[in-house]
Amino acid sequence: MSKPAGPTNPSASSSPSASSPASAPASPSTGDFTGLRALVTGGASGIGLATARMLTARGATVAVLDRDPTAVAGDPDLSPFTADITDDASVTAAVRDATALLGGLDILVNNAGIGAAGTVADNEDGEWHRVLDVNVVGLVRVTRAALPHLRASAHAAIVNTCSIAATAGLPQRALYSASKGAVLALTLAMAADHVREGIRVNCVNPGTADTPWVGRLLNAADDPARERAALDARQPMGRLVDADEVAFAICSLASPLAASTTGTSLAVDGGMQGLRLRPE
Ligand SMILES: NC(=O)c1ccc[n+]([C@@H]2O[C@H](COP(=O)([O-])OP(=O)(O)OC[C@H]3O[C@@H](n4cnc5c(N)ncnc54)[C@H](O)[C@@H]3O)[C@@H](O)[C@H]2O)c1
Repeated sequence: MSKPAGPTNPSASSSPSASSPASAPASPSTGDFTGLRALVTGGASGIGLATARMLTARGATVAVLDRDPTAVAGDPDLSPFTADITDDASVTAAVRDATALLGGLDILVNNAGIGAAGTVADNEDGEWHRVLDVNVVGLVRVTRAALPHLRASAHAAIVNTCSIAATAGLPQRALYSASKGAVLALTLAMAADHVREGIRVNCVNPGTADTPWVGRLLNAADDPARERAALDARQPMGRLVDADEVAFAICSLASPLAASTTGTSLAVDGGMQGLRLRPE
């Protein structure tokens, strides 16, 4: 395995902690983040928590930004910061404090998000504004606060958690799909805007993933077992996506080993987007 590519950011001062790892990692999944500093939004649960833990296992120093980081408060490997990404002041303060603690920032994982159910006829304007404020503008607020730090990194990468809902028409998901379609378009626009600053921007598109979020959805269903079976069956692999599988994709895109990858979306959906199977 060769060493990660050298600095991709022409204007970056290669600070000691942002420079290439001293020795080549044994494999892409171990040590490729050594010396790098990461911030994961929504990192206290589900996909974000799995990502924060995987980044740590692969050598990164990781801060978690969440509106409720209680779940990681006792974790010695993760530094929790409380912020609601709909509140610009709290985001600015949390990013300032997290980057001060980490000594800079190389990786930003924009993962915090919320769901919404219904057709276009079902949600009031207020609900549209609330969900777009979290899933789209929230991502913008965190990125805006993080950009000056990312510009100073030699291995800067942003990974956004998008969704299969951005690329496939799913019933009863009009508002959520609109928000994730915006995340997909924003990923491409951000990748173009920041490529010459040496900042890569990509996203992952998970299918239905087995996280506390989906657990809450199932609990609210009339028949949770039947709903779970329907969600399993919707994916060609016949099962929900595991949070660690999404975390692996996020880490792969964030890794310095992916130094030429920007403006891409990576499906982690059990084949849901790309495959058309014949009925059994
Ligand atoms: N679970 C799925 O099936 C699935 C599928 C595709 C995409 N996604 C996306 O993955 C991401 C994570 O989902 P998950 O399933 O792990 O959900 P989750 O509910 O388990 O975790 C989401 C985390 O985000 C935090 N959060 C929510 N709103 C916030 C806010 N305003 N400010 C700060 N933190 C906030 C929550 O506190 C929570 O810790 C979301 O963006 C979601 O849209 C999930």
